[in-house]
Amino acid sequence: MVLREEAELLEPRTALGRAVRLCSSRARPMPDDETTLFRQSWTLYDALSAKNYMFHREIYACVAAILKERHDRGFECLLDLGCGNARFLAPCLLGSPPQRYEGVDLSAAALDEARGYLKGLAQFTLHQADMLEAVETRTEKVDVIFTGYAVHHLSFEAKQRLFHACARVLKPDGLFLMVDVVREEGQSREAYLEGYLGTMRTQWTEMQPAHLDEACAHVAAFDFPETLSDLTQMAKDAGLSQTRLLQRHAQHHLLAFTA
Ligand SMILES: C[S@@+](CC[C@H](N)C(=O)[O-])C[C@H]1O[C@@H](n2cnc3c(N)ncnc32)[C@H](O)[C@@H]1O
Repeated sequence: MVLREEAELLEPRTALGRAVRLCSSRARPMPDDETTLFRQSWTLYDALSAKNYMFHREIYACVAAILKERHDRGFECLLDLGCGNARFLAPCLLGSPPQRYEGVDLSAAALDEARGYLKGLAQFTLHQADMLEAVETRTEKVDVIFTGYAVHHLSFEAKQRLFHACARVLKPDGLFLMVDVVREEGQSREAYLEGYLGTMRTQWTEMQPAHLDEACAHVAAFDFPETLSDLTQMAKDAGLSQTRLLQRHAQHHLLAFTA
């Protein structure tokens, strides 16, 4: 992994530069792409989610309740985009199993771990693939598309395409459930990052400093959250006219999109 002084990475006079400087005052590993963090090891993501810094506990409790309702009406297939190691979705699925679970992720390491977490499911398939490509080329319909903390890695245009592709593969009463970070209305990405990185540095106090530095670098380089109104408009343009905000914990949202 390349080591580089942070000053080389970002213009230090910008707010984002200041926020990243706030986050790390020494040389630190530079992330290579949006999946490096998840390709090499799950230690870091597992550590921060175990501390519930991203509200996995509350959000996935709600996801479990929604999947239970879906299960009671007949639940054939769930497609999980950016499934990672499926550590948090697996217990929800085991409580209300679809006939078929399909997970998609670019990270082979994550998918290896997912096999362990999902082993109680009767039928599951894991695809090492780009999530946008996977949905755009898919022909089989699904009841539920789930995505957890993955869509913010895509560009604005790729997110628009994702909504169209998801709307196309959902059954008529299908549900697109999205867990993700969201920007405030009118807030720039730079201002969003300054706030989020500040929170990480001041409130994620139980992480090892090196892990925190790595996580901050990942967020600064690869997080491109949208506003709720932009996500709602993207969904509407794709034919998913109903957007519901099911939970919100600071920047962390659980959204449901339906036709
Ligand atoms: C923060 S993890 C989230 C894991 C899990 N869904 C959760 O909610 O805890 C984001 C995952 O998205 C994956 N990812 C990022 N961009 C992707 C893409 N374009 N296609 C497929 N997977 C992607 C990463 O490899 C990583 O496993």
